[in-house]
Amino acid sequence: MKITLENAAVDAVESACIVVGVLEDAPLAGPAAELDAASDGRLSRLIASKDIDPDRDQLTLIHGLPGVKAERILVVGGGQADKFDRFRYQNMCLAAGKYLRGHAVREAHICLHAMEVENLDAAWRLRVAVQGIDHGNYRYVATKPFKSDDNRPLKQASFQGGDELQAALDQGIGLAVGVRKARELGNLPPNICTPIYLAEDCTKIAETYENCSIEVLDTDEMAELGMEALLAVGQGSSNPARLVVLKYQGASADEAPYVFVGKGVTFDTGGISLKPRDSMDEMKFDMCGAAAVIGAFEACAKMQLKLNLVTVVAAVENMPDGKAYRPGDVIGSMAGKTIEILNTDAEGRLALCDALTYSERFKPAAIIDVATLTGACVVALGHHASAIMSRDDDLADELLAAGKTAVDRGWRLPLWEDYQSQLKSPFADMKNVGGVPAGAITAGCFLSKYTRDMRWAHMDIAGSAWKWNANEGATGRPVGLLTQFLIDRLA
Ligand code: BES
Ligand code: MN
Ligand code: ZN
Repeated sequence: MKITLENAAVDAVESACIVVGVLEDAPLAGPAAELDAASDGRLSRLIASKDIDPDRDQLTLIHGLPGVKAERILVVGGGQADKFDRFRYQNMCLAAGKYLRGHAVREAHICLHAMEVENLDAAWRLRVAVQGIDHGNYRYVATKPFKSDDNRPLKQASFQGGDELQAALDQGIGLAVGVRKARELGNLPPNICTPIYLAEDCTKIAETYENCSIEVLDTDEMAELGMEALLAVGQGSSNPARLVVLKYQGASADEAPYVFVGKGVTFDTGGISLKPRDSMDEMKFDMCGAAAVIGAFEACAKMQLKLNLVTVVAAVENMPDGKAYRPGDVIGSMAGKTIEILNTDAEGRLALCDALTYSERFKPAAIIDVATLTGACVVALGHHASAIMSRDDDLADELLAAGKTAVDRGWRLPLWEDYQSQLKSPFADMKNVGGVPAGAITAGCFLSKYTRDMRWAHMDIAGSAWKWNANEGATGRPVGLLTQFLIDRLA
């Protein structure tokens, strides 16, 4: 999709479709008011007659509004003015994107960001609008290509505004590209999206953007480093594991990088502790942590942010097999600690602990791991928030704030010392599971043992990374939060 700014008067814009927002119990404002004036009050009359519904997520398409050059006007309802906030605004932008995609509109001029949202500035509103329109326009076609009678996505979207909004537009585009990447990787089936596929896709990203480089470690190289935990997870799979290290240098080489680490379990059967058959297919999404950190990396590289970033992906498949690791095994890890395996389905923390130890070499300004780590996280927070855990209050606050700005919310869970005892083992330095109570937190505790010397946070995105019942697939979260976190560090 081509995305541009267009600063003409709305009634003079020659477009297939102009998109404006309206609220209940509030006078028409901005571009909606201008279209109303140009059409001699036609919009207000349509609202008065209830042909246009300003309620939430109500969309009305009007053809041939008199006095207006554009062929169609899409009026998007935002609901009651006094309840209008960033979340409803984001929903409107998304709904508009979906509507355009579903109605074969190939070209549109978007004015939604003229609406007032809390106290957020025009740059913020534009960024969210660009993301929403692009998000709504995405369709997965990799293994189900368009048919001749399918509605096609937007070819071109112009957004109302002039040069002063160019930087915000570029950020919106960068974010949209990153979210798209994460969704696409997440949605790909596990027979295509293997550890090697992830490594190759990352290689393409490194080749596409300036100031990027990549290193891919194979199983021999990982064995040499002592990554027994990561390798144990992949032992039962015929798809060999990879550790992918993407580097972006946007600042001087001696500046400490931010490091993102992603769980890239390309399929999680549970291993010998096999998962039940129902909805095991969803475990193709078990690499969504990796997808998110790759997406955030691409967003950062696309925007050429003036900071350094390293993205580390632990890419591995968890399969049951004659060679697979088993409950009862005691394995080592790169940090030298031993782990008693009680459940081979608690594999994410094993892959991550070695990736985290490996990352110490970068002396990170902050390190954040992102993982679809526990079903317990879904029980705790549902599908609306990503869990954030950290011993560092400032880092946790920075991530929470970034999530709020990006409308990609996180919520903090404690990592108190009290929980650590659940991981005690008589046979090793720790067990790989901490029992039923606080399952999301004890998984975080496990990782905390590997990050003692770093400014570290863990994000469990088991609930936020995909929407299965809604048939929407991967959400691309938390690319928005992670990228916003980086942008905020520049200020
Ligand atoms: N990938 C799963 C976590 C998961 C489950 C994410 C369902 C999203 C939806 C993870 O590898 C896993 O299996 N975790 C176990 C941990 C348990 C054995 C301690 C879980 O949550 O059941
Ligand atoms: Mn598992
Ligand atoms: Zn898993």
